[in-house]
Amino acid sequence: MAKGYLAHETAVIDEPVSIGSGTKIWHFCHVMSGAVIGENCVLGQNVFVGARACIGNSVRIQNNVSIYDLVTLEDDVFCGPSCVFTNVMTPRGRLRRSIDEYLATLVKQGATIGANATVVCGNTVGQHAFIGAGAVVTKDVPDYALVYGVPAKLVGWLCECTEKLSFYVANGVETAVCGKCGLTYENKNLTVRRKKPKRCSDPPHNLFGL
Ligand SMILES: CC(C)(COP(=O)(O)OP(=O)(O)OC[C@H]1O[C@@H](n2cnc3c(N)ncnc32)[C@H](O)[C@@H]1OP(=O)(O)O)[C@@H](O)C(=O)NCCC(=O)NCCS
Ligand SMILES: [Zn+2]
Repeated sequence: MAKGYLAHETAVIDEPVSIGSGTKIWHFCHVMSGAVIGENCVLGQNVFVGARACIGNSVRIQNNVSIYDLVTLEDDVFCGPSCVFTNVMTPRGRLRRSIDEYLATLVKQGATIGANATVVCGNTVGQHAFIGAGAVVTKDVPDYALVYGVPAKLVGWLCECTEKLSFYVANGVETAVCGKCGLTYENKNLTVRRKKPKRCSDPPHNLFGL
């Protein structure tokens, strides 16, 4: 790892690129000039990364996935084998689209894309959202949502640890506590937020006026 990252001898890396330390790029990958890949990522066999693609830290991309221009994968994203991203909504063989006509795709921190799922361009996959295998995502996916099917539909909510969340009303607020890891969530009109754990300095424990 002289460069700080490892690329198998069959991988083609078109310099200049930005690839973080600890990243591993396996057999037959192609990273185009200008691509940005963070630290501690794993790119499985036959992964393509476009010049205007952006990949955060600790992203895991399984075999046969193309990260095209204007696709952004934030930190900790998992891309299942052969999942598909897109960047032109209405392509034609004879029409040359400029990058100004591309639609961006954003996959937010911690989200999972299941095997063979397709994300139609112009959509955002929320933080820690989970896209089931084979789904076709045609709309934005909320944070922590579990969606699957064609087109993908909201079927539930998953904790960051992937346990299913069951919401109940407590003090007028839809609340869920993960049965596995104990993280707590609130759901307001399909917007799920993880409640921050209490700190010693939070009231009413802030006895020292810190
Ligand atoms: C979505 C997923 C997490 C399971 O969700 P779940 O709600 O626990 O699913 P269950 O097994 O309880 O199934 C519930 C129902 O949903 C259906 N279902 C589950 N996953 C589905 C999917 N991806 N697409 C369509 N239907 C699905 C089941 O057939 C079942 O239907 P039924 O009620 O008619 O019998 C899982 O099926 C999945 O797709 N995981 C991704 C696996 C993957 O791609 N891994 C990549 C790395 S190897
Ligand atoms: Zn949990």
